Amino acid sequence: MTFPASGRLLVKLNRPAGAQTIDTNGHAMKIDNVTTTPFDGQRPGTSGLRKKVSVFRQPHYLENFIQSIFPVLEDREGATLILGGDGRYHNADAIQVILRMAAANGIARVLVGRGGILSTPAASCVIRKHRAAGGIILSASHNPGGPQGDFGVKFNIANGGPAPESVTEAIYRNTREIREYRIAVHPPVPLERPGTHALGTMTVEVIDPVADYAELMERLFDFDAIHALFNSGAFRMRFDALHAVTGPYAHAILEQRLGAPPGTVVHGTPLEDFGGGHPDPNLVYARELVDALFRADAPDFGAASDGDGDRNMILGRRCFVTPSDSLAVLAANAHLIPGYRLGLRGVARSMPTSRAVDRVAAAHGIDCYETPTGWKFFGNLLDAGRVTLCGEESFGTGSDHVREKDGLWAVLFWLNLLAVKREPVNKLLRNHWRTFGRDYYTRHDYEALAPEPAHAMLEELHKRLGTLTGRRYGERTVSFADDFAYTDPVDGSVSTGQGIRIRFDDDARIVFRLSGTGTEGATLRVYLERFEPDPAHHGQDPQRVLAGLIAAAGEIAQIQAHTGRTAPTVIT
Ligand code: G1P
Ligand code: ZN
Repeated sequence: MTFPASGRLLVKLNRPAGAQTIDTNGHAMKIDNVTTTPFDGQRPGTSGLRKKVSVFRQPHYLENFIQSIFPVLEDREGATLILGGDGRYHNADAIQVILRMAAANGIARVLVGRGGILSTPAASCVIRKHRAAGGIILSASHNPGGPQGDFGVKFNIANGGPAPESVTEAIYRNTREIREYRIAVHPPVPLERPGTHALGTMTVEVIDPVADYAELMERLFDFDAIHALFNSGAFRMRFDALHAVTGPYAHAILEQRLGAPPGTVVHGTPLEDFGGGHPDPNLVYARELVDALFRADAPDFGAASDGDGDRNMILGRRCFVTPSDSLAVLAANAHLIPGYRLGLRGVARSMPTSRAVDRVAAAHGIDCYETPTGWKFFGNLLDAGRVTLCGEESFGTGSDHVREKDGLWAVLFWLNLLAVKREPVNKLLRNHWRTFGRDYYTRHDYEALAPEPAHAMLEELHKRLGTLTGRRYGERTVSFADDFAYTDPVDGSVSTGQGIRIRFDDDARIVFRLSGTGTEGATLRVYLERFEPDPAHHGQDPQRVLAGLIAAAGEIAQIQAHTGRTAPTVIT
C-alpha cells in the first residue's frame, strides 16, 4: 500500500449517500452523512492526537478526526483494519463510533481486541500478522485517564508502525477541510467475547487480544529457560501493570505460561482511570514498585509498563536500570536470545538517549543511528533491515519483531538474559559498565509551564547557539552546539528543530527540547549525561555526578528567569 502525499479528503465514496445495505442478520443499515465543520488543533503530535477527554467528547470531534484517516487508506475496499485501545475512559464509546464509521466508509473487516483492548505493541503485531491495511489505537499512552484525564487516537500503517509524518500531515490537512463524515446507524457491537459479527457489509471479528502477541513472544524467547528460572526457587519477580493494559498480557504470559507464582503481577486489572494513578513506569510514578525493590526483602527483578503497554521500566534488587543502559545491555547480549542469536544488523536510539548503546555498536562493528525523538523515526530503519534493536531514554525499547516499542518484550528479554546468566541485575549492569564504561544519565522535566515563556526560552537559546562554543560553565567548556536535524537515510526526508544539543570538552552533553505529547501547557525536557570510563567511579549517584552539568543547563537556558521554576517537576 502506498500513501498519497497530498491526502485530499475522501473523494471516492463506496456507496451512494444515505444508501441502505443489509447486514447478514437481515437488518437494513442506514448510513448517515453528517455535516460538520473543522476543529482547530487536530494535528497529530509525537504520538497521535492526544487531548483531554472533554475535548474528545465534544460533538463531532472524534468523528472528524476518524473520517480524516480513511482517505489515506488507498485501497479501502476489501481492507482489514485493526482496532483496540488501552481501556481508558471513553475507549468503549469511541470504539463503537469508529466501527460504525469504518462500516460506512467501506472497510471490509475490522479485528477488534476483546473488550476493546489491545496494547500498542500487540496492535502492531496483529496488523502485521493479519496483513491489515492499518490500525487505530485508542490511547494517550502514559497520560492519566478518567473523565478529567486524557484520551488519544493513533493511526498505524500496514507495517504495524506509527504513521510517518507525510501521513499524519495528510490526515491533518483533511481535518482542516472536512465538511461531512459518514457513519452507519447501528446498535453497539458486542465485544465481550471472541466471535464474528456483521455491521452492514463489514465483518467485525472480536479477537483474543493476547493470543497473537504471546505466540510471537514464544518464538523470540526461550520460554523453557525462563520457566526454569521461575521454578528454581531462587528467583522472585514483581511486575506492576499500573492498572493499565499490560495486566492481561502479563497474567497470561508471566504467570500462566512461564510459571511465575500468582501475585507476581500486581495492579493487573485494567481500570478506566488506572486507579487514579499516572500509568508511567518511571521512578516517580511507579514509586510503589521502586520502594518494593529497595526493601530488605526485595524480589530479584522488578518491571512495569505504561498505559498502553509500550514502555518498560527495569529494576533489580536495589538497582534501577536506566532505559539507555537497558538498550545497551540488550544489544551487548542479544546473541544469547533465540530470536536474536544471529546477531544484530544495527541499532538505533533517539538523539536524547544516552550514548551507551553507541559504545556497544562500536565494539561489535555494527551501525548505530541517531534519530529524532519518537518511535516513528525507527520505522524506515527497521523496514529496510538496517537495525534490529532500537530504543529511547523515555522507557521505550523494541526490535524489528513489531513496529512499536514494546514493554513486555523488554521484560521478557531481560528475563531470558537472567535465565541464561543466572546473576543479579546489579552485577550484570556493573559488568557491562566495566566493559563499556558508564554513561551517567538523567532527565529533568519541567511540566505544565506557561507555553509562551517556554517557547521564548528555547527561541532565545536558539539565537545564542552560535555564540556558545568556547564559553565556560563551571569546569567545562562548550565544544559544540546545534539544533538537531535528521535526514532519514532511507527516504531522504528531513526533520529539523528536533532539540538543542550542547556538547562540552569532556564529551558531557546537555539536550533541551519541548515535549510533543503533553496536553497541559508546555513541558521542557533537559537531558544530561557524562561518560565515566573508570570502574572505580561507577557506583555513584547520578544526580551528584551530574550536578555541575545540571547547574550549567540552568545557566545556559536561563530556566529560572524564563519559567520561574527553581527545580524540575519530574526527575528520571
Ligand atoms: C515522549 C518521549 C518520547 C516518546 C513519546 C511517546 O515524547 O520523550 O521519547 O517517543 O513520549 O511515548 P515527548 O513528550 O518528549 O515529545
Ligand atoms: Zn505508551
